[in-house]
Amino acid sequence: MYSRFKLLRKYCQYNFNASNGKGHGVHSPFVFDFITKVLQDKKIYPAYKKIEKLREQMLQDDREVEVADMGAGSSVNKSSTRKIKAIARTSLKNKKFGQLLFRIVQYYKPATIIELGTSLGITACYLAAGNPDGEVYTFEGAKNVASIAINNFATCRYENIDLVVGNFDNTLRETLVNIFKLDLAFIDGNHRKIPTLDYFELLLKKSNNESIFIFDDIHWSSEMEEVWKEIKQHPAVTLTVDLFFVGLVFFSSQFKAKQHFTIRY
Ligand SMILES: C[S@@+](CC[C@H](N)C(=O)[O-])C[C@H]1O[C@@H](n2cnc3c(N)ncnc32)[C@H](O)[C@@H]1O
Repeated sequence: MYSRFKLLRKYCQYNFNASNGKGHGVHSPFVFDFITKVLQDKKIYPAYKKIEKLREQMLQDDREVEVADMGAGSSVNKSSTRKIKAIARTSLKNKKFGQLLFRIVQYYKPATIIELGTSLGITACYLAAGNPDGEVYTFEGAKNVASIAINNFATCRYENIDLVVGNFDNTLRETLVNIFKLDLAFIDGNHRKIPTLDYFELLLKKSNNESIFIFDDIHWSSEMEEVWKEIKQHPAVTLTVDLFFVGLVFFSSQFKAKQHFTIRY
């Protein structure tokens, strides 16, 4: 993981180089549509209030849970006890990006969604709310954290979420056997290079022309920057959008030449 200072410097560079979609810089009608209809959609949807209320509850929750984190960012396979409120403060996608994921799902209507890294289930709720007719498969390795997420799904009455407990290294392959076609994947756990690229290859097997993959924290560490670089170069990838904290990947054959955009958000 990069130091705060390095991350801030990278963020400033991104802000300086990124396009805001106006004027020069974005010649793709698809990306222009994404910017104006999804990224810049300022409407307040009812799901926002419900899910943010749940986040607030998690931020006040003093209970402790045992966490066996299998991803980068903590020691490998180390079990530790953490307060729920500390997990809510440090491990979840914030409101801005949770709501962006909601709008992406609402706009493109993916039917089958995978999230790697459930944690307390806040982002899974946003993904589920975006398309009530879709199905969200969310994966979590820490079983005590997963059980909090299950309660949260019940509290919010999202019935279109399946939580798969266990290490992605085993559960992803097993679950994908029963998934015919994958429309959207949000990869937000285990920020290491080799596992992330392995998950990408597995997910790719079930992708289609319209699939969207979203990678979290693409500039978080040198390993994640290498992941992002390799994904951009992958022959199946036709278009990418770098929003700094997440990177969007598209595979549509409508984009004749590979295109990469860095958009301010
Ligand atoms: C950043 S959190 C996910 C946050 C969630 N997507 C949100 O925004 O609400 C990442 C989660 O992935 C889980 N995780 C990391 N590596 C894993 C692995 N190899 N198998 C299963 N779970 C893993 C961690 O336990 C952690 O809860």
